[in-house]
Amino acid sequence: MLGKQLSRRAFIRYGLRAAFLMLIGSGYGLRHSVKTETIDLHFPTLPSSFHGLRIVQISDLHASFWVNRAYLSRVVAQINAMAKDIVVITGDILTGSVNSFFKRWLPDDDDTYLSMVIDVLGQLHNGATKLAVFGNHDQGDGSAKTQQLTDELHRIGFKVLRNESLALTYGNSQIYIAGTDDLWYSCNLPKTLANVPEKAFTILLSHNPDITTEISKKMKIDLTLCGHTHGGQVMIPFITGYLMPIDNPCRYMAGLVREDYGYTYVNRGIGTLVFPMRLGASPEITSFHLT
Ligand SMILES: [Fe+2]
Repeated sequence: MLGKQLSRRAFIRYGLRAAFLMLIGSGYGLRHSVKTETIDLHFPTLPSSFHGLRIVQISDLHASFWVNRAYLSRVVAQINAMAKDIVVITGDILTGSVNSFFKRWLPDDDDTYLSMVIDVLGQLHNGATKLAVFGNHDQGDGSAKTQQLTDELHRIGFKVLRNESLALTYGNSQIYIAGTDDLWYSCNLPKTLANVPEKAFTILLSHNPDITTEISKKMKIDLTLCGHTHGGQVMIPFITGYLMPIDNPCRYMAGLVREDYGYTYVNRGIGTLVFPMRLGASPEITSFHLT
């Protein structure tokens, strides 16, 4: 009888271990299963010459030991095959040393990852306007590193929006794309919008969705594109939400949010942080179609 009970306990114990290992294994495999999300948005205020505008967004590449050249090259090849007018990156292109738990065991050469990700992003075809803003990991290692990343992005044809805006003109109309520095560092939203005319159609790029708490009713922002959350990366019900480094994870974990003034979209990102795995939050390339 005792032997039978023990073997039943052992069966459950080994079964749970096997299930746990299978979960880890599938999370490791799913970290690279990129999903393309297509989002159609209609804005009565969008100038007619911009109807049909296509924006491709990626975020949180986190170039690092865990996120390598082969995977990022595949993402770039996917983007190259997509119809688009604008490509935007909403921060955390690098993984900064702020998250250094594993660094005691891993190769410690950030410049290698910086040059790798620049090399890969440089393979994006010309023809689309290429824009980027920085995330907390891009700015966390100091201004010299951030400047190096800025210079390299400029070299491969990206405009980095650092608390500034850019006017796009099609026909007789203009829209504005504004981009902030990271909210935990040098974000300045009033400065970012300073040159945007009061009634202009405006798209805001900002890494952290908590930027929405800084948007006042006086600011006319039609679409805000963010990242930062990784969609939870490993979605464990009732737990992951508590660990999210944002104010309102229920609202801004991932996807499209309707605001009083427009829409916010939170991209689940491309790379991974801390653990090379994803569960219930696949990596994402987003294709926006505006009318
Ligand atoms: Fe990130």
